[in-house]
Formats: sequence, C-alpha cells, structure tokens
Amino acid sequence: MENDPVLSLRPIAADELLAIAAIEKRVHRQPWTEAQFQAEVDKPYSHLWVLTDDETDQVLTGYIVFWELGETIELLNVAVDLPYRGIGLGERLVRAMIQHGLKTDRLQVMLEVRVSNSSAISLYQKCGFEVLQTRKSFYSDGEDAFQMKLTLSTWGGTA
Ligand SMILES: CC(C)(COP(=O)(O)OP(=O)(O)OC[C@H]1O[C@@H](n2cnc3c(N)ncnc32)[C@H](O)[C@@H]1OP(=O)(O)O)[C@@H](O)C(=O)NCCC(=O)NCCS
Repeated sequence: MENDPVLSLRPIAADELLAIAAIEKRVHRQPWTEAQFQAEVDKPYSHLWVLTDDETDQVLTGYIVFWELGETIELLNVAVDLPYRGIGLGERLVRAMIQHGLKTDRLQVMLEVRVSNSSAISLYQKCGFEVLQTRKSFYSDGEDAFQMKLTLSTWGGTA
C-alpha cells in the first residue's frame, strides 16, 4: 500500500480465513490453522476483526481475535503482516479491542504472551497492561508465558 493508506477494522469475511491463516504462518512460531480461525468465527463470544485498506478492502494488514466472557475480555491473538509492521497498526488493533471493552462495560482485559516476545510485551505495556504472573511452560514447546492484565474499570488512557 502506498502513501499513508486509510485502513478500517471490520469482522472477517468467510472467504478470508485462508488468507489470514497464510499471514499467521508467516508471523507465529505455532500458527493457528484455517480450521482454528473458523472455530473462532463460529463461537458467539469470539471476535475476529481484520484491518484492511478502505480503497479496495482486499489488503489484509493485520487481525485480532478476542473473547468476551462476562466481565472479562481475553485477547487470544493479534498480528500484523510483515510489510506493515512498525507503523502503529498493532497498537490500533489492541486499542480498538480496549475501546470495545470500555463501550461494553467489561472490567478487564487478560492475555498471555511468550516471555521472549519483547515487541508484543512492549506493545501491551504501551497500552497499559501489567504483568500479573509468569505461567510456567504455558506453551506446548515449553516456553513460559506472562499473564498480563489491563483493568478497564479504572482505566485512564485513551483508546
Ligand atoms: C506484536 C505486533 C502485533 C506489533 O505490531 P506492529 O504494528 O509492528 O506494532 P506498532 O507499530 O503498532 O507498535 C506499537 C508498539 O509496539 C511495540 N513494538 C512494536 N514493534 C516492536 C519491536 N520490533 N521492538 C520493540 N517494540 C516493538 C512498541 O512499544 C511500539 O510502540 P513505539 O512505536 O512507540 O515504540 C507484531 O510485531 C506482530 O504481528 N508480531 C507477531 C505476532 C505476535 O507476536 N503477536 C502477539 C502475541 S499473540
């Protein structure tokens, strides 16, 4: 995309699951499959939003998956495709989820992140998340996770 494109967030379309799974393979060590994304689409409490260009609505730059469970939002996955990194899109995705949580009166956002994933940890901290605890061998390859939390009820930032 050229010249500061205008991008918008919307729910994923049924024919975009394969494309999202392809991005996922490029960006994650243990990528979700197309079937896993489909399973998220089928859950009433799950949201899968994609960030696309307004001009064609075809360029998938990134996506976010989160659950709404009672008073809690659980962030499951957020990713920006490689050509679009470092220009604020990851932050835009996370802040859109936070904004949704505020609008729907949720109390907190929870997530797990690999302890080695310094860019994601830094993104979450920038958005106000704090580390609650370390979860030992949380991932199937044995890596630990930080469990992080953002309290929405007392949140003073701008989403
Ligand atoms: C994490 C990820 C979503 C960030 O997306 P991005 O669009 O490149 O990030 P942004 O441009 O919005 O950056 C926002 C903040 O994130 C942090 N960040 C992003 N990239 C970073 C990097 N390479 N190194 C350190 N911090 C980084 C910074 O705090 C940055 O704020 P700053 O620009 O003021 O320094 C992206 O790197 C990604 O898709 N990673 C692979 C998937 C993943 O690990 N997801 C998270 C776990 S599910």
